[in-house]
Amino acid sequence: MRPAGALRALLLALLVLAPGLPGASPVRAIAPPAPAGPELAPLPPCRYLDEMTRFREPSDWARTMLDTRLRLPRDYRAPGLVSVTRAGIAGSGKVRQLVIPDLTALARAARKAGFPLQVRSAWRSWETQEAVFAGWVRKSGYREALRYSARPGHSEHQLGTTLDLGPAAASRDPWEDGGMDRTPTGRWMRANAWRFGWVMSYPKGEEDRSCYGYEAWHWRYVGRETAAAVRESGLPLRVWLWRNSERLP
Ligand code: DAL
Ligand code: ZN
Repeated sequence: MRPAGALRALLLALLVLAPGLPGASPVRAIAPPAPAGPELAPLPPCRYLDEMTRFREPSDWARTMLDTRLRLPRDYRAPGLVSVTRAGIAGSGKVRQLVIPDLTALARAARKAGFPLQVRSAWRSWETQEAVFAGWVRKSGYREALRYSARPGHSEHQLGTTLDLGPAAASRDPWEDGGMDRTPTGRWMRANAWRFGWVMSYPKGEEDRSCYGYEAWHWRYVGRETAAAVRESGLPLRVWLWRNSERLP
């Protein structure tokens, strides 16, 4: 190093090491890492347990997480149940009144697009869910039933905000004939239902994270804003709720 270069290096070292010297520009210390917020626990694996879900008031309808581990209390009552026909949709059963305006909008848009819908299953009481699950066990055996049917307390149908939907013209249930998977109605729903606040809870290829096999017919109402956020995230609803339910009103 030439003498001038050595001098420059010495001056630079002084500036860096002795920022308090007059004329030296302050050396910015590297800030310590920002204190980490509370770490989000990893998504729990899909085990068959009976833990009480955290947000379980009827007012928590959009953020109540239900899966193969988490369930509602035995005395959960979905309030304000009315007939789905109030939404001008075919089929029968009840839903919470709060669902009706956006179910009406969904049904109308589907009809206008040429894919009218019908409700094949709506709100279920604890007892109904018990019977539905037992029916699947009789039909398919316990292990297979667990893949497509919730044990009582664990079903989103008990919230009164969830529907099984199929094409209006179909005479069979959509889980019997693939009616929502391989039809234009199913495609239309997958592309558009979120605009009206509806989310497919158990998408294709997500069994490990959603805890159930693909159910092209099972739609849960979460409101337009949340449905748009879930869609934008590309995550299955269960994962999205795990990460965000605390932030929802
Ligand atoms: N088929 C869904 C998992 C239910 O029974 O709620
Ligand atoms: Zn369903």
